[in-house]
Amino acid sequence: MDLFEYQARDLFAKHGVPVLDGEVIDTPEAAAAVTERLGGRAVVKAQVKVGGRGKAGGVKLAADPADAVEKARAILGMDIKGHTVHKVMLAQTADIKEEYYVSFLLDRTNRTFLAMASVQGGVEIEVVAEENPEALAKIAVDAVEGVTPAKAAEIVAAAKFPAEIADQVADVLQKLWVVFVKEDALLVEVNPLVKTGEGKIVALDGKVSLDENADFRQPEHEALEDKAAANPLEAKAKEKGLNYVKLEGEVGIIGNGAGLVMSTLDVVAYAGENHGGVKPANFLDIGGGASAEVMANGLEIILGDPDVKSVFVNVFGGITACDAVANGIVQALELLSSKGEAVTKPLVVRLDGNNAELGRQILTDANHPLVQQVDTMDGAADKAAELAAAK
Ligand SMILES: Nc1ncnc2c1ncn2[C@@H]1O[C@H](COP(=O)(O)OP(=O)(O)OP(=O)(O)O)[C@@H](O)[C@H]1O
Ligand SMILES: [Mg+2]
Repeated sequence: MDLFEYQARDLFAKHGVPVLDGEVIDTPEAAAAVTERLGGRAVVKAQVKVGGRGKAGGVKLAADPADAVEKARAILGMDIKGHTVHKVMLAQTADIKEEYYVSFLLDRTNRTFLAMASVQGGVEIEVVAEENPEALAKIAVDAVEGVTPAKAAEIVAAAKFPAEIADQVADVLQKLWVVFVKEDALLVEVNPLVKTGEGKIVALDGKVSLDENADFRQPEHEALEDKAAANPLEAKAKEKGLNYVKLEGEVGIIGNGAGLVMSTLDVVAYAGENHGGVKPANFLDIGGGASAEVMANGLEIILGDPDVKSVFVNVFGGITACDAVANGIVQALELLSSKGEAVTKPLVVRLDGNNAELGRQILTDANHPLVQQVDTMDGAADKAAELAAAK
């Protein structure tokens, strides 16, 4: 999960990384009092989870409280690379003498963590890496050892930070590593890390990405989720413990097991080419134990998506046999209609594997008007695509 700058700033402050005072607001009027509190001047910064805000006009200096209101009014509602600005952060202004870059990230290729640092910060670091690669130091960080004072000094030396600030930068690096470890982050990046007129080192802009696999031991991270931006169906699926990903197409897909669901996406996309290019509308894995309730939850989510024109339920019976899944589907349809959620979209069901015959019989006997069975995966995908195209 990527965080907003102001959230990254809060985490930095929590772990002792030097940051400037600031406050996030969502109405222009609120800027006046905040700017007053910050000393009469402020930098107004768009809070969007995308880079290059400054260049897009999303970072502006305000000379006084009235100016801050105007700047906030201009930035709120702005579109930056497809992200609408709903919040701005007002921050104290810094007297910037130099801009640097530092980050920690997970280096999957080398199976370790990586520190990156450069004295050419402020600009897009990708450009530095491309045009002037020797100006970006890359130092591996051992997961167990972490950023010791010696490791911090190694990073500082490799990036050639000036001697008079070397100790301060080393200290900030160690604190950022604490943020990285304690918050279970995958990325902690500061660009720019600045030297002020007084010779102080301050983190002016932060990017943090948290590892959602660690949510179970990070109860405080839930509050950082941007609930307003989440797809409502994805949020609902998450609540019910289902793996659901919204896609662009028209055929809703439910399967048991991620591997089967992924290959179902391929097969549907392929079949769809013969039906005007219809595509999968989602990825929904109901996992191993497909009880009636899980099936009902899955169907409810899929059918709740207005883009879905037909549904393909693709199940390979294993520990949960096909008869249990078939009963699940029948009960799910009953459950939904008893809740007043009329099912109006056609369902194509393919059952194979353990107790397939029995499962198919159960669906045949139930004789639901919207349910059709096709015994092969390719055939069922074709039928589902055909039905979606016909709607
Ligand atoms: N508090 C501040 N005081 C003075 N100048 C600032 C302040 N915050 C940012 N700036 C200036 O604005 C520039 C851009 O700000 P920032 O790094 O936050 O946004 P960005 O780099 O455009 O956005 P992103 O990191 O999303 O690409 C900085 O490099 C710095 O020169
Ligand atoms: Mg930046």
